[in-house]
Amino acid sequence: MTAPHTPHLTPEAEQAPPFPAPSVDPNRTGGAVWHVRALMASGRWRPTREAIAHWLNTLKFESHHLVLVGASAGWMMSAEFLERFRFIEAIDIDPLARPLFAWRHGRRLGRAGTLVHWHRLDALLQLEELMARWPDAAWLFDNVLGQQIYRHHDMDALEAALGGLAQRLAGREWASVHDWLSGPAMPTHAGAVLSRPIDRAVIEPQGLQLRGQSYSLSAAGEALLATLNASGEWWDHRTACVFPPGTSVSLIPWELLPGTWHWLQAGGVSARTRFEARAARGNATKALRILDELDRDDRTARS
Ligand SMILES: C[S@@+](CC[C@H](N)C(=O)[O-])C[C@H]1O[C@@H](n2cnc3c(N)ncnc32)[C@H](O)[C@@H]1O
Repeated sequence: MTAPHTPHLTPEAEQAPPFPAPSVDPNRTGGAVWHVRALMASGRWRPTREAIAHWLNTLKFESHHLVLVGASAGWMMSAEFLERFRFIEAIDIDPLARPLFAWRHGRRLGRAGTLVHWHRLDALLQLEELMARWPDAAWLFDNVLGQQIYRHHDMDALEAALGGLAQRLAGREWASVHDWLSGPAMPTHAGAVLSRPIDRAVIEPQGLQLRGQSYSLSAAGEALLATLNASGEWWDHRTACVFPPGTSVSLIPWELLPGTWHWLQAGGVSARTRFEARAARGNATKALRILDELDRDDRTARS
């Protein structure tokens, strides 16, 4: 079994490298294969979809404007979460995403008065331009960051860019659900794995605090693989560096195909970045309130 990779330390803001241009064509992260797979797997994916919906419910975005990166048809997305927003900028490189998203979510979002604007572009390559276009929006990277290993050959350059994302998004509220590890597994009781309470962890500089104990990334990964009775070669999606230390994350199992499992990491850094933004603007009262909320979240995540 391949041990999970330990990333380099997150770079300083001014050193945060941009994403390299994709070197793999065609798009293996979405498109017809993804849509057919999602359509056929609706029942098998239900527990993971529900766990993601539960996590989305815990996000405290203040903005009513959402940038949804990797929207696709929103196969794993909760309509209830989307309805919280007045405007959604849905971004995907896949031409099928827009009509299928409208088919799955259009009617309900229309009733809720949520307006969806579509953009067919590479959001990671155009990040700064898009951030400048929507300065007050919240960002959700929806099962897209972990997929970038399928678009690139140079994994170290990709990992450096993933590790620099938090600095580039500083001052914004943002969240991501993404693949961390994936590979073959045959848990004895798949239903039990999927229905047990979701593991919460706190990101540490070189590892994770999980179930009240500090683990190196590779030890945490091994512990998660053991719960799935994993075997054979596992992929590391190079996303362990995405969230800054102190971020509380949910670790969600997903049976993508029969016998092929993923561990997803889902976390949001909205409170901390909003605090930094407010503190920078000198709004001390609001900054203290947000700091209180952040402390409360940390205590909950550690308990
Ligand atoms: C695994 S799918 C996730 C789909 C979606 N979140 C859902 O619930 O159905 C990843 C999606 O991200 C899109 N994608 C990959 N890289 C992208 C990028 N750099 N910018 C925009 N979209 C991207 C793919 O086309 C694909 O639709």
